[in-house]
Amino acid sequence: MNLLTLNIKELVQIEHKTRLKVSGSEMNKVDSIHNAYLYSENGIIKDFGKMSELDTNIVNSKNVNIIDAFGKTIIPAFCDSHTHLVFAGSRETEFLDKINGLSYQEITQGGGGIFNSSKKIKEISEDKLYEYSYERIKEIMSFGTGSVEIKSGYGLSTDNELKMLRVIQKLKNNVPVKIKSTFLGAHAIPLEYQNNTDKYVDIIINDMLPRVVDEGLADYIDVFCDKGFFSVAQTERILEAGIKYKLKPKIHANEMDISGGVQTGVKYNALTVDHLECIGEEEIESLKGSTTIPVVLPGVSFFQNMPYAPARKLIDAGLPLAMASDFNPGTSPSGNMQFIYSLGCIKYKLTPAEVLNAITINGAAAIELSDITGSIAKGKSADYIITKPIPSLAYIPYAFGSNKLDTLVLNGEIVYRN
Ligand code: NIG
Ligand code: FE
Repeated sequence: MNLLTLNIKELVQIEHKTRLKVSGSEMNKVDSIHNAYLYSENGIIKDFGKMSELDTNIVNSKNVNIIDAFGKTIIPAFCDSHTHLVFAGSRETEFLDKINGLSYQEITQGGGGIFNSSKKIKEISEDKLYEYSYERIKEIMSFGTGSVEIKSGYGLSTDNELKMLRVIQKLKNNVPVKIKSTFLGAHAIPLEYQNNTDKYVDIIINDMLPRVVDEGLADYIDVFCDKGFFSVAQTERILEAGIKYKLKPKIHANEMDISGGVQTGVKYNALTVDHLECIGEEEIESLKGSTTIPVVLPGVSFFQNMPYAPARKLIDAGLPLAMASDFNPGTSPSGNMQFIYSLGCIKYKLTPAEVLNAITINGAAAIELSDITGSIAKGKSADYIITKPIPSLAYIPYAFGSNKLDTLVLNGEIVYRN
């Protein structure tokens, strides 16, 4: 079906020449057209421009659905490049422990944290896990997400990691959101292997990984390379094994400490290094000249009352910053990318243009989808948000907490309306 959206107050993030990512000072720029139209055929953007230049043949053609977006703004659908949205149950009891003063590490050491979610994954059926996860996909669509990466990592055993990855696979086949899946067997060391951590690394490499690859369940491999989790040496072993199977690395790096995770990511040509709350000049230097994209997760700093990653410094270093929700039950229980947009402006003090680039085109680059989504460009998938009537782009991050989405269009079809 073909779709024509008319009378758009402002069509934001247009590209006449498709770019795969936006870096450094370029991030402070988004191009837009006022009083515009946007036309797609069979899910692909064919044309856009000023209303005054609209070809009347398009309007009069038979197979076209028309949306009148008078007073409304269009931006690309959000690309959330880091989530753990396949999980069972919730962890608000730990939220209370946190309010009462326990740290994330203390909660984890007591069998909570990732272990708490791991117990719940073991108990739940694959069908139920799919049902809950499907609901979360619907929820993130209601806030404007059009592409998302989802990790395993609460299974911590071969069967349960496969259970999570099969759920992600089923979501890929059944929802209009574009999905990439990441195998994160190395999310935490199960309690029974705490005294022999390399044994668990062996299981990841020799048992889990071949099964995951055999069933074609992962696009990427991830390791939580941080203090109290996986060492640099263990991370390297796991990444090397993954690379043999052609799985590109993505790394949870430098959340708790200066872990060496960033440099390890660069060494192994990781697609992204994510978190980066604890980084200094050396880490930033190592990213320069590499193809590794830094991904920051402000929802975690907000929810955990932790320091924020130095997002401004990363942009000033000329890097292509991406920003994601890290939607997970422990450290960021929200996948609302409009709220992430607000945090990016309020807490990192980035401009609305910089954050928009970080959560659309650069988010898409962080999951290798920026050739087909993440901006309004001819030939890309028609994945966009029609906002409620708003005065300007800056209103989206400014009016935090309220949902500014009116309609979500993915693959040229209306998939959600508020
Ligand atoms: O990205 N850092 C590691 N993993 C998640 C938290 C997982 C959890 O607590 O459930 C994160 O913050
Ligand atoms: Fe994470």
